[in-house]
Amino acid sequence: MYVCNDCWHSSAVKLGKCSECWAFGSFSEVRGITGKSKKKGIATGQELEVTEKKSSQYIPLSDTELARIFPKWLKQGGVYLLGGEPGIGKSTIALQIVQQFTTQRVAYFSGEEQSDQIVDRQARITEDKQNEHMDIFHANHLEDILLTAETGQYDLIIIDSIQTIYSENIDNASGSPAQVKYCAEKIAELCKKKNITAWVIGHVTKGGEIAGPKYLEHLVDVVLYLEGDRYWQYRILRCIKNRFGNTDEVAIFEMTLFGLKPVYDLKERIINSANLTIPGSVLTVGIDNGRPVVVHLEVLLNKTKGKFPTRQIVGVDPARVNLIVAILERYLKANLGRFDIFVNIPGEFSFKDSGLDLAIAAGIYSQYKNIVVDKNLLFLGEIGLGGQILPTKLHEKRRKEMWEKMSIIDHQRMKHISELVNII
Ligand code: TYD
Ligand code: MG
Repeated sequence: MYVCNDCWHSSAVKLGKCSECWAFGSFSEVRGITGKSKKKGIATGQELEVTEKKSSQYIPLSDTELARIFPKWLKQGGVYLLGGEPGIGKSTIALQIVQQFTTQRVAYFSGEEQSDQIVDRQARITEDKQNEHMDIFHANHLEDILLTAETGQYDLIIIDSIQTIYSENIDNASGSPAQVKYCAEKIAELCKKKNITAWVIGHVTKGGEIAGPKYLEHLVDVVLYLEGDRYWQYRILRCIKNRFGNTDEVAIFEMTLFGLKPVYDLKERIINSANLTIPGSVLTVGIDNGRPVVVHLEVLLNKTKGKFPTRQIVGVDPARVNLIVAILERYLKANLGRFDIFVNIPGEFSFKDSGLDLAIAAGIYSQYKNIVVDKNLLFLGEIGLGGQILPTKLHEKRRKEMWEKMSIIDHQRMKHISELVNII
C-alpha cells in the first residue's frame, strides 16, 4: 500500500501525483496496513490454556464533564488517541487529565514544546499547584520514549504529538504515514505489555481527520476528537470509537484563562443569546452524538434577484431543507420558489438530524408569513413526505432537555404539517 505523505490518501500503486491533493512525488510505501494478514506466532499444536480472568482496572476521574465520556474512567493499559486542529486545546486537555492522576506516576513526552511552556500551561490550569507526579521529557525518538516509559514505571504516558516522534527503524520523515503507524504500534504494544495508559495526541490532516485514522484506529482503544472554532469559546469533545464504553456522549467545554471548563448552562446561554423576536427564529433540540443540545435556528428569506433561487444552509442537512421546502410548497401552498433561503445555527453546532425538520419548517414558514414565533414554543418532529409529523429519535431525551414551562410542538400536538397555520 502506498500513502500520500501530505494528505494520507492511499493507493495500491505508487502515484507520481496524488489524485486527492495533487502533490507530486509524495507517495511512500506503508506495509501491513490492514493488519489482517499479520501472523501472530505459529500454532503450537497443543490444546489452548484457559486464559486467566482479570477484571479491568480504571483510574478514577473527578472531572464531571470528562466523566460523561469516560463513565468508567481511564483504563489501565488503554491507548487513547485525541485528534484536533492546532490551537484547539489538545495539550490543555491532556494536562487536565494529568491533574486527575493524583497518586499515579505520569510522563509527558513533548516533541514540539519546551518544558517551560508545559509548566506555564499547567500553572494556568491548576492555579500554580504543580503536579509532583508528572515528569516532563522533551523527546522525539520513539525508542527513547519507550525505554523511559518502561524503566520509569509510569502509569500514564502522554505523547504530544504522535507526528513529532520518529523511529530510526523507519526511513521516512517524522509525521509520515509509515512513521506514525509504526510509532503508534510500538506504543500500544508497550502499553498492553506493561499495563501503562497512553494518551496520544494527533494533529488532524487537511481533511479534518487525525493523520491516518484508518491506520491508527485498530491500534488504539479509544478515538476522540476535540472540535470547535479556535476563535469561538466552545470546545466539543466527541468519542468516535470506544472499546471500553459507549460513544454516544459529548463533553462541552469552554476555553477560559484557566484552561477548559465544563459548560453547565449551555441551554441558558443559547436561549439568552437568541433573538426570538424576529420571524424565522425558532427553538428546538438536536442530538449530537447522543447528547441533546438546545438549538436556536434562524431562517431568512429574500426575494430572488437572479434567475435561480439560492439556498445557503449552515448547521443542518441541506438535503432535509430541500425536502421541507417541497413539503411546505405542497401542503401549505407556500410559494417558496421565488425566495433565496438561508438557514443557520449560530455557534459551531452542526446536526445531521431529521428531528430538526419541524423547526426548520416553522422557521421557513414564519419568515414567509412574516410572523414572530412565540418564544415559548419548542419544535420537535420529523416530517414525512406526506406531510405527517413523526416522533424524533430519542424523543423523550429531547423533551427532558427543555424546561417544563415551554410548550412542546411535536407529533402529539400536530398530526400534519398543514396544521402549522394554527400554531404560528
Ligand atoms: P493548546 O492546548 O496549546 O492547543 P493544542 O495543543 O490543541 O494546539 O491550547 C491552545 C490555545 O488555548 C492557546 O491559544 C492558548 C489558549 N489557552 C487559554 O486560553 N487558556 C488556558 O488556560 C490555556 C492553557 C490555553
Ligand atoms: Mg499542543
